[in-house]
Amino acid sequence: MPSDKLAKVRGILQRFTTPLLPDDYSALINPLWSTRELRGKIERVRREGDVVHLDITPGWGVPTSFHAGQYIGIGVLVDGRYTWRSYSLTNAPGHVAGTLSITVRAVEKGKLSNHLVGNVQPGTTIRLLAPSGDFHLTDPVPAKLAFVTAGTGITPVISMLRTMAERRQFEGSDVVLVHSSRTREDVLFADELARLQKEHPQFKVHTRITSEEGRVTPENIDQIVPDITDRVVYACGPAEMLDEMEAWAKDAGVELKTERFTLDRISDAQGGTITFPGRASIEVDGATTILEAGEKAGVNLPFGCRMGVCHTCVRPLVEGHAHNLVTGETHEAGSRVRTCVCVANGDLIVEA
Ligand code: FES
Repeated sequence: MPSDKLAKVRGILQRFTTPLLPDDYSALINPLWSTRELRGKIERVRREGDVVHLDITPGWGVPTSFHAGQYIGIGVLVDGRYTWRSYSLTNAPGHVAGTLSITVRAVEKGKLSNHLVGNVQPGTTIRLLAPSGDFHLTDPVPAKLAFVTAGTGITPVISMLRTMAERRQFEGSDVVLVHSSRTREDVLFADELARLQKEHPQFKVHTRITSEEGRVTPENIDQIVPDITDRVVYACGPAEMLDEMEAWAKDAGVELKTERFTLDRISDAQGGTITFPGRASIEVDGATTILEAGEKAGVNLPFGCRMGVCHTCVRPLVEGHAHNLVTGETHEAGSRVRTCVCVANGDLIVEA
């Protein structure tokens, strides 16, 4: 028998004669089967400059129903370690049975985005977290709707637009999209937006090239959409844009839904001294997460996504009150907290 075949047979025999966990057996048959974690396989990779479009086939147990506008968490092995991020789903729910699609732009120092745009190959097995998020279309959709997006902020909205087209929800609606992009070449989904506009007279697209025309702000948005205050507004883009939109919507009494890709650190949490018993103590403000406090104090806690998605960073809270910047909840002593999104509201003791 040739030596490579012999080695394969030896490997298989070795596996069946070594104690294995249920996951090890199932992974021998199909790498997408796991009882411990949700997995998926990158099925298709389509690269376009600094952007990549990925279609993911979910493995056993991954919930595949979602609302247009929601995101999934993905964990990909990069340099021997799982790196987690969440990305908006871009396909319409149920369009191709079970497929989950995302679009990723490479960002500066973005370890995972650069890996996905530059290196990832079809067939790669990844870890997944179930679709979630509150930024999604209501049913029925509002009669007058405005989307305000910038850059990759279009990704959850393209899912909503594709869904509306499939479900014929443009009929009877009045929908406008104001999408900002730094350059003309950077406009994501440009051809598809033009086609949707052509096919649905109730849908208007305004593309703003910010390097030529400047940013869209609450002061100039009514020049683009004069009846903006009569619409339900969905906004997704950089934090600065969303902060301005939220302040404007509050004053103008506009119903606004926003999606942020970064952690919003503004809260009433007062900070305090965080103690990692037997390791270190450090005084921090109410915007520094427990994970960051540990890193400053030389206590390296485990982490994955650093966005509250993957739960890798969960540690027991021994004493005190921790404020969750994502959910707004207050966690009491005795609970287990996601250290990447929780801050101190008073002194804390956290098991390292
Ligand atoms: S590192 Fe992923 S939830 Fe905290």
